[in-house]
Amino acid sequence: MKALIALWVSLLLAFAEIHQFPIGYRPNLRQRLHAQGKLAEYEKERNELLSKKSIQLAQSSSPIIDYEDMAYMVPISLGTPPQNFVLFIDSGSSNLWVPDITCAGGKDATCGSYCKSTPYDACLTFCQEECCTKTPQILAKADACQSKHRFNSSLSSSYVSNGQKFDMTYNTGEVKGFFGVDTFCFTNTSVCVTGQEFGQATTIGEAFGKQPEDGIIGLGWPALAVNQQTPPMFNLLNQGKLDQPYFVVYLAEIGPTSQINGGAFTIGGLDTTNCDANVNWVPLTSRTFWQFKLSGVSSGSYTQTPSSGWQAAADTAASFIGAPKSVVTSLAKVIGATYVPLTGAFFIDCDAVAPDIVFTINGKTYNMPSSSFVVSAGPGPCMFAFYELSAGGFYPSWMLGPPFMRAYCHVHDMQNGRLGLANIK
Ligand SMILES: *[C@@H]1O[C@H](CO)[C@@H](O)[C@H](O)[C@H]1NC(C)=O
Ligand SMILES: *[C@@H]1O[C@H](CO)[C@@H](O)[C@H](O)[C@H]1NC(C)=O
Repeated sequence: MKALIALWVSLLLAFAEIHQFPIGYRPNLRQRLHAQGKLAEYEKERNELLSKKSIQLAQSSSPIIDYEDMAYMVPISLGTPPQNFVLFIDSGSSNLWVPDITCAGGKDATCGSYCKSTPYDACLTFCQEECCTKTPQILAKADACQSKHRFNSSLSSSYVSNGQKFDMTYNTGEVKGFFGVDTFCFTNTSVCVTGQEFGQATTIGEAFGKQPEDGIIGLGWPALAVNQQTPPMFNLLNQGKLDQPYFVVYLAEIGPTSQINGGAFTIGGLDTTNCDANVNWVPLTSRTFWQFKLSGVSSGSYTQTPSSGWQAAADTAASFIGAPKSVVTSLAKVIGATYVPLTGAFFIDCDAVAPDIVFTINGKTYNMPSSSFVVSAGPGPCMFAFYELSAGGFYPSWMLGPPFMRAYCHVHDMQNGRLGLANIK
């Protein structure tokens, strides 16, 4: 029997293919609001609220997972026969969850728990009005699940219950539910794993209700996962479903409109369609995030090379590039971008001639041309795709989000703990 199984596994390996499919894309809230001419109004309200001293966000014992509303998404399925979902790809977290069939509107409080403990005015900034109340005992209901695909375990013959509860907090909201186990596939492919643990959300924060995706697929390392769950990509590797231990993210350059073809997600090999065959490998400094040492940054007359470098993480979920404040300010100056306080963002002429921003990583330089960091946001000026990141403790001080990922293909090597950077064809 053992021998038979071994033979079967090796046959699978021999016939494993490289799979590739399009990544859906939706621009972030700032870009969408700017395109609608509403960004200043939004930021004004937000800043007024934030400047009030009463704001104190509830401390959460759950891990806070960085999350922005820009969405790069892939289609997946769970169960037998498959139930389809569209999931946000997040290389800054490591859990998989989808809404459960019991995640029903009005039945449970779907407002993030932080809404409850946040003063009314501040609450309005972070939560939907229905979730905020002047009398904290009465928690109103919001219905974030209604528009989502929901998983019905009764319809799956391969489902195994686990029942353990979870509570995960992302920056924009909380997700609660219980864990289950079932077969996972990328939709309509044979890239499948059996026995995948995943979250079945019974309540999701209201912010998720405004998102196009159903749930999240974490692409980070197992060490970052809540409840030590093995993320799907690592299960694919462990179950011998990959020819090569890679998944590749290629993000196309697109403006402020949603696209079905926002890039390509390649599993089990290199992306030879969109990416150069020459891959520069960068060793990871931590197997949590896809984290590595960034040695320096320069642009025009500006150069910064801290003696021990910075810790940086590749992150599909950060809309822009998060960097230390002094770096963002200096870069904006040499690029010619202007901070507009009312909007909380930097703006630049769309046709401005700006120098490249150059990163030094593992002894090699990587140029981001202005086309990757001058981001179209509809009519009017473009946005400079950097934001100030005030990271602390465990968190890396740079989040190299989609603007950098649009400049270089990212090859994630799950076996050797390294990140490959390749030019885009
Ligand atoms: C889930 O599937 C079962 C089995 O078909 C069905 O009886 C039940 O109504 C479904 N649940 C919901 C809420 O649709
Ligand atoms: C999967 O295949 C079905 C049937 O051919 C098709 O209708 C559906 O659009 C496909 N879904 C994806 C995400 O490719």
